[in-house]
Order: sequence, then structure tokens, then C-alpha cells
Amino acid sequence: MNQTVMTANALERHYEVGGGLLRSPQILKAVAGVDFTLFAGKTLAVVGESGCGKSTLARMVTMIEEPTSGKLELDGEPVLPENWASLRQSVQIVFQDPYGSLNPRQRIGTILEEPLVINRPDMSREERTAKAREMLGLVGLRPEHFDRYPHMFSGGQRQRIAIARALMLGPKVLVLDEPVSALDLSIQSSVLNLLVDLQEQMQLAYLFISHDLSVVRHVADEVIVMYLGRAVEKGSREAVFAGAKHPYTKALLSATPQADPRAHKERIKLEGELPSPLAIPAGCPFAPRCWKVQDRCRSERPGLSNDAHSAACFYPEN
Ligand SMILES: Nc1ncnc2c1ncn2[C@@H]1O[C@H](COP(=O)(O)OP(=O)(O)OP(=O)(O)O)[C@@H](O)[C@H]1O
Ligand SMILES: [Mg+2]
Repeated sequence: MNQTVMTANALERHYEVGGGLLRSPQILKAVAGVDFTLFAGKTLAVVGESGCGKSTLARMVTMIEEPTSGKLELDGEPVLPENWASLRQSVQIVFQDPYGSLNPRQRIGTILEEPLVINRPDMSREERTAKAREMLGLVGLRPEHFDRYPHMFSGGQRQRIAIARALMLGPKVLVLDEPVSALDLSIQSSVLNLLVDLQEQMQLAYLFISHDLSVVRHVADEVIVMYLGRAVEKGSREAVFAGAKHPYTKALLSATPQADPRAHKERIKLEGELPSPLAIPAGCPFAPRCWKVQDRCRSERPGLSNDAHSAACFYPEN
């Protein structure tokens, strides 16, 4: 039985943009109603093009930003600003850029011990150092790295350090926002394998954000495909990769060469631009770019069903 760690219901985040002296601001719905469940030891991948709301979702889950509406629960407790302080240790994040996320003036040991200095007044200096050294080993770095500075490491090693820091407080949920996108292809799989190993050892729930389906295929248990702030398809990795239902998912898959090397497929070229998030079309948001579009798609908005594998589409594939 999978243990539920976090649930999100109809999560939304709006931003006011473009307000001026004589103009009232417009509302940009960066995330417009997303549901998901995270399980201990499992990975939910969120995929979609730039601007579809992935990082906004990550900021709500990590309690950096408050949702505009919707419900988020961690271990059955509501995630609300008044609870953030006590819940934050359980949800940590690793960002895409391993260069920007580490303080260049701090030694690795100091970087790793910092979360403990702030959050664990019960621990002695010796205990903190021991914990940091242990974590360094767990992410595949060597004891002598403890006293070095970030600039002395490669991108892949720095991302290992960022992962180690995120794990220092023993979180239950790790949000990984494009964690390997800035790394050389040759390094990506070693960092992904590390994440898989750590997940198994610590039974971590991962929210894994990526625009790259070949990476998602490597790590995901469940997949959510987002388009303009909405989930347009959800399902197990096997179901989504073997039988994508939403035309948008099909198009994304067809543009991913490594996703399925055996499959014979034609590349689907998406027509038209991604609509502005300020002018999301009525009906299906994908309709203006969809090659299967019918009249109904332009006026009615399709939703996801409760089925394990579902697409928000009136005329799904498969
Ligand atoms: N603070 C903000 N104020 C106004 N608009 C914002 C803000 N943050 C994000 N947005 C808008 O919300 C939408 C979603 O942005 P978000 O960064 O979540 O996308 P993303 O999927 O992470 O994209 P990328 O793949 O480029 O990282 C975009 O249209 C973006 O311009
Ligand atoms: Mg982003």
C-alpha cells in the first residue's frame, strides 16, 4: 500500500500583471486548478512547455508562495501560512541551476550544516558535522570535499551538493525543478540514478518537474502533463508513454527522440504559437494548435476524469 504524503486539490495561483496608473491589472492564471497526490517512495513528474506553470506549482508546494485557492495537505495537515514554519522542514527543493544555488563564499561543510544550525538547536556542532559528512558520502562525494568551495566542483557535483543540502533536515517531499536540465547529457543519468537510489533509501516522495520527456521516462511513476496552467493528461508512466491520449502529449512525445527509440513515428509539428496566458482561449486551451479540433472544442472546456489514465480531451487518442 502506498503511503500518501501530500495531496493537492484544485490548486490555483493567479498573478496580477500590467496594472498601471489608469489601467487595472489583468489576472494571469499561472496554475489554474491542479490535483495530485504524492506517495512515499514514488515520483510524480510534471511536464510541459515553458510557462505552463511548473515552477509556480513548485513554489506553492514548497511554501514559498500561497495558493490563490485550492487545498494542499501534508500528512493530513492543511498547508496554510500559519503552519508553514512547522511544515517547511518536510518539503525541500532542488533548483535547476547548481551554480546559482550555492553560496560561493561558503565551504561545502558550512553549506550542508546551515539548515541544521537554523532548525536544529538541539544538535551539537559535532553532531551537525557528523551528519553533514554522512550526507556528503550518501550523495557520492568524498570526505575531502567537505572543506572545499563551490567553484572547485563540476556542475554535476554541485547538483549533488544541492541535493545533499535539501536532505539535511530529513524531508518527506523533495521538489526537483528541472534538476538535470543544466547538466551535460553525460552527467544527467548519474544524477538521476543518484536521485532514484536516495528515494529508495529514504522513501522520499518526489515532485519531479521537467520539460524533457526522456528524463521523465527514466524516473517517473506517475505523470501529469500541463498546458497553460492546467493538467491535460495524467496517468502512470507506462500508460502515458505507451498510449498518450491527449494530442498535446502526443506532440510532446513525438518531439522527444529518446522517448521511445523502437517506435516508428512521425514528428508532429505543433501549429501556431502558445497562446498568451492572459488570453487563454475559451473551450479547450489547446484547440488553436490541435490538428483534431472540432467545433465543440472551441466552446466547451474538457476536463480530466477520475480514471487512473485520463486526458482533458473530447477526442482522445487510443
Ligand atoms: N511572479 C509572477 N508574476 C507574474 N507572472 C508570473 C509570475 N511568476 C510566473 N508568472 C507567469 O506564470 C506563468 C507560469 O510560469 P512558471 O514559471 O510557473 O512556468 P514554468 O512552467 O516553470 O516555465 P519554465 O519551463 O520556463 O521554467 C508564466 O506565464 C509566467 O510568466
Ligand atoms: Mg520553471
